[in-house]
Amino acid sequence: MSGEYDHVPVMLEETLDLLAPGRGATVLDGTVGGGGHAEAILDRIGPNGRLIGLDVDAEALEATQLRLGQYGDRIRLVRSSFREIKAVLGELGIDEVDGVLLDLGVSSRQLDSPGRGFRFGQETADVTPLDMRMDDRLPHTAADLLAHASIPELERWFRDYADLPGARKLARSIAAARERAPIATSADLRALIREAAVGRGRRHDPATLVFQALRIAVNDELGALRDGLADAIDVLRPGGRVVVLSYHSAEDRIVKNAFRDQARGRTGPPGTPDEIFGTDARLRVLTRRPLRPSPAEEARNPRARSARLRAAEKLEAAA
Ligand SMILES: C[S@@+](CC[C@H](N)C(=O)[O-])C[C@H]1O[C@@H](n2cnc3c(N)ncnc32)[C@H](O)[C@@H]1O
Repeated sequence: MSGEYDHVPVMLEETLDLLAPGRGATVLDGTVGGGGHAEAILDRIGPNGRLIGLDVDAEALEATQLRLGQYGDRIRLVRSSFREIKAVLGELGIDEVDGVLLDLGVSSRQLDSPGRGFRFGQETADVTPLDMRMDDRLPHTAADLLAHASIPELERWFRDYADLPGARKLARSIAAARERAPIATSADLRALIREAAVGRGRRHDPATLVFQALRIAVNDELGALRDGLADAIDVLRPGGRVVVLSYHSAEDRIVKNAFRDQARGRTGPPGTPDEIFGTDARLRVLTRRPLRPSPAEEARNPRARSARLRAAEKLEAAA
């Protein structure tokens, strides 16, 4: 593994344009990862700006500390989930921020680290433990979930988090297989998926979908997004912006709905004219449809292919 943190920031220009941090701004990067977006933001906000960078992954924070150490006290890195945005800002004595960025999911570095078990198909798959925790302080690995989750729970994850055709069949196969031997490595799971012959008709390799679903469950990624996004909107100053990059439809739906709820108020039925809600709307949505990476970026960076970017601005009158 190289000393560099191998993650190319996705949709960097589009992110900066929508976040539009002014000079001297305070920006919270809730998923600082390797610091690619953070570095570009620091350059924009200049010497009087400050960036608070959160990540649950200790290795990511170490790499970012090395990469961005030269920014001194203009950057503050905190090992925390973006679920704890309010607590972190409270500790730092900051009431509100000018911008929040969430670049969801895993980094290329996490995906490519064999020991972390996010990926199947490496030569080492037969010894790769099914871990998948972004935060190694979490109590349960993917292997633990496969050992203990009920069949309906497993089915729900495969269906809701990855839209897997044959979700129930795979859940049952897992329950039968674990009676015989623990499902401990990425190769064990891969073999089970192949035997169950699920996922027909989807463009993606079924193993990709199953690994994605388990990763989302292990890290409670959708719960964190719901909580974190609500708090991100709360801590924005009026006129401040929130930008979210998501990588699969379940995430994007949460962002779209959260923005829509806050933009129109929550009290009226669909179709009611916006003016009626005037007073309880808190956001202006800046992206009617999610932005997608350019073909050139997709060609350069395959990880960008599934990216969708949405942004919103807190209304001046909003609380
Ligand atoms: C796609 S990467 C971010 C890459 C970053 N924008 C860059 O340019 O290097 C996502 C990062 O978010 C972190 N992460 C995922 N869920 C998180 C959460 N709930 N709170 C904080 N960090 C999280 C992961 O550990 C990972 O490092």
